[in-house]
Amino acid sequence: MSRFMDHFLYKDGVLHAEDVAIAEIAEAVGTPFYVYSTATLTRHFRLFDEALEGMDHLVCYAMKANSNQAVLTLMASLGAGVDVVSGGEYLRAKAAGFSGDRIVFSGVGKTREEMRLALEGGIRQFNVESEPEMEVLSEVAESLGVVAPITVRVNPDVDAKTHEKIATGKSENKFGIPIARSREVYALAASLPGLEVIGIDVHIGSQLTSLEPYEQAYLKVAELTETLRADGHQIKRLDLGGGLGIPYERSNEAPPLPIEYGALVKRTLGHLDCEIEIEPGRLIAGNAGILVSEVIYVKSGEGRDFLILDAAMNDLIRPAMYGAYHDILPVVEADAGAEQQPYDIVGPVCESGDTFTKNRPMPKVAPGELVAFRSAGAYGAVMASEYNTRPLIPEVLVHEHQFAVIRGRPTFDEIINRDTIPEWLEG
Ligand code: LLP
Repeated sequence: MSRFMDHFLYKDGVLHAEDVAIAEIAEAVGTPFYVYSTATLTRHFRLFDEALEGMDHLVCYAMKANSNQAVLTLMASLGAGVDVVSGGEYLRAKAAGFSGDRIVFSGVGKTREEMRLALEGGIRQFNVESEPEMEVLSEVAESLGVVAPITVRVNPDVDAKTHEKIATGKSENKFGIPIARSREVYALAASLPGLEVIGIDVHIGSQLTSLEPYEQAYLKVAELTETLRADGHQIKRLDLGGGLGIPYERSNEAPPLPIEYGALVKRTLGHLDCEIEIEPGRLIAGNAGILVSEVIYVKSGEGRDFLILDAAMNDLIRPAMYGAYHDILPVVEADAGAEQQPYDIVGPVCESGDTFTKNRPMPKVAPGELVAFRSAGAYGAVMASEYNTRPLIPEVLVHEHQFAVIRGRPTFDEIINRDTIPEWLEG
């Protein structure tokens, strides 16, 4: 078994999701589509849960990674909590059966309406990110006659050594309050009648491939816990955020495992007798999903061949947005020793940014054949758009030999009829 196991493997030369052949799903739903594996989602949640065994803990799945209701329902059934960052995500959590005491609300820009929604519907805690937010939350809670449980997100000023767009723990980022100002900010929180301080929150970035930045951050959190307790604050819960990376490029990446991360948490924070919360998203959903697409054309260009797919940047924006790497495999396995050929792999959208990768060696493929993007289960479907009036693509969940469409493809009529024409334009 490889270090990171998933359930998308070739069987008899054809790619499967668990026990279902990808071609069978393509036949039923058309391309492109996302497909997720129940077994991988389950396994990844359990890896985190087991890594924190022996500590009072709750794994709060960061649904921003993949918020399909079926995925959330599965997470709820496994005993997960959930991390939400908007009123919409809060309502998704409730609809999937998470009780309020399993929902954590993060984010720098919570509105009064979102606060009210969560206070009325039940909330485990708000991770508060600024003094103005604290004051507003206290007011909203008071107006409802309740007290809002909070942690304050501190920014420990460590370099997460990840892509600049997803690093959050440096002092220049918009997130949290500078750790050096924690004492005065906690004093303010304690003075506000609508708030109850219960702990500390920290999240330093996403797709971290080393434990070292976590270690630096958590040592600072440990010290801060002692300081704040000495100041008279109740610090009983530590929310440690998410961020553990996954091997997008399997041939040369080996990010830390949840069990190694868990050992670090125990070593740096175990003596504090706090309840531990973590908010993993990518590691739970990322390698639990693939994007399947059909080759439309193979086009010979100037010194290169383009593989033009029916999936595009609007379906999977990570390569265009972060220069992200995704493994791309033919759905029908190439013969051992088959000739490799370099391709620029692109979508049909009218901009050059719609390029998934350049000069990627792959076994030869022909129009009509299917390819699969690995590691597309997190930040894939959730970041998709209908740019170029390309419908959001279906999501499919596999469980052993069964599969179900968990979000269907909208029809063009549905898309067009979402828009309305003002009276004065009507002829
Ligand atoms: N908690 C907080 C407060 C976060 O901001 C995030 C991610 C997470 C947890 C989950 O982090 P994860 O375990 O998934 O790394 N769209 C980007 C990733 C953005 C991550 C934003 N925050 C991408 O496709 O790489």
